[in-house]
Amino acid sequence: METLVIGIAGGTGSGKTTLTRSLKERFGDDISVINYDSYYKSYDTLSFEERRKLNFDQPDAFDTPLMAEHLRSLIGGRPVACPVYSFTEYIRTKDTVTIQPAKVLLAEGLLILQNPELRKMMDIKIFVDADADVRLLRRILRDVKKRGRTLDSVAAQYLATVKPMHDEYVEPSRRYADIVVPGGGRNPVALGLIIGRIQEHLKSS
Ligand code: CTP
Repeated sequence: METLVIGIAGGTGSGKTTLTRSLKERFGDDISVINYDSYYKSYDTLSFEERRKLNFDQPDAFDTPLMAEHLRSLIGGRPVACPVYSFTEYIRTKDTVTIQPAKVLLAEGLLILQNPELRKMMDIKIFVDADADVRLLRRILRDVKKRGRTLDSVAAQYLATVKPMHDEYVEPSRRYADIVVPGGGRNPVALGLIIGRIQEHLKSS
């Protein structure tokens, strides 16, 4: 059967993970998730201090050829060894996680709708939207609690790269979306519609 590929993009803290998790919890093994974040380039030759100054919000920050290859494999029914990226060390770890092919594939990430090669592989494109102040608050809480960052470093990074790159790359990619989900990942009406579409695909398979 054909894999239904759903791309889920949106700014930092918009609720991509919440939406993806809700769908995964609802459908279990019928859904596999591939996250563009796992494909951040590693820059192993740079020091930690040099790595943390990089711009992680522009297209070149990602190993897109590997992401595209893995997406193609999953669509073709082959499992992939997905890299594991460390947001505390700013580096790709030696670990990998196996992603199994499934009837529905969720491809999630900040700039996933920005890249034409990735876009072409998607059947449904979703842009998750939330106000910038809400997104920033979520980002601060997450980065400080889960990514070992200081408040000062989150603020400096937000002003230097996150916000300008959002305006340059993330926001314009909204135009490619079939569906815009306002209110972030907790929009029960939008969630219901997406669930309905997935159920339709699963029934027809
Ligand atoms: N990033 C970072 N340090 C790195 C690599 C990435 O701070 N070493 C940040 C980038 O600045 C980018 C963000 O990670 O803005 C991308 O993840 P984000 O979209 O915030 O998180 P998700 O959990 O994928 O999405 P959401 O918050 O919408 O659930």
